[in-house]
Amino acid sequence: MSEQILSVREAIINRRSIKKFNGKPVNREELMSIIDDAIWAPNHGNREPWRLVIACDEDLVAVQHLLRDLAIPKWQDLSSEDLVKQMTKFTLPGGFAFVIVPEDARQKERLEDYAAASIFIQNIQLLAWEKGIGSCWKTPGFLDNPKFREALKVQPGERVIAMLQVGYFDEVPKGKERKKSAQFVTNFGE
Ligand SMILES: Cc1cc2nc3c(=O)[nH]c(=O)nc-3n(C[C@H](O)[C@H](O)[C@H](O)COP(=O)(O)O)c2cc1C
Repeated sequence: MSEQILSVREAIINRRSIKKFNGKPVNREELMSIIDDAIWAPNHGNREPWRLVIACDEDLVAVQHLLRDLAIPKWQDLSSEDLVKQMTKFTLPGGFAFVIVPEDARQKERLEDYAAASIFIQNIQLLAWEKGIGSCWKTPGFLDNPKFREALKVQPGERVIAMLQVGYFDEVPKGKERKKSAQFVTNFGE
């Protein structure tokens, strides 16, 4: 899919999580321009409760090594064929954005901040989609691993909530059917 102007509806309905990338790198400036638009996410008190660590271009190899080292303990029993397959999850994305949120001590603010950062992430995914760039929000087990946090310079009181993989792709996966509104919406008083 190449760049085209999409209506909001088209972008929401047609975007799919891309889990198979084709290896073409995503340009850092392109990703930064997507992020600069995505910041218009609603967020309570204009706290803008997010910061990102991104890896594009010449940083990709270092990130791939880090992710491989973190994931390898989980892969110990895999056949070499499956191991190669797993590795492509880290080597084929064209860029990475790790999304970090503050962990407010107050529960309401913490929930609001997570919600706002989630909207911000969806904005990134939709804006990227319009540019023909796929993405997938991933939450691998190592997001809270001290080694990973240290590599990203995550501070105490912060949490990494997403590994957003971005990149170009050759195929759009078919979306799983969603429930229709009549199945989960009830009228007040019913
Ligand atoms: C909070 C969150 C965490 C997710 N974590 C993962 C993940 O760890 N691995 C993965 O393959 N997909 C992950 N996904 C992507 C979902 O699998 C995907 O959004 C879902 O299957 C719906 O597909 P669609 O995005 O194409 O509509 C995550 C999505 C969200 C919103």
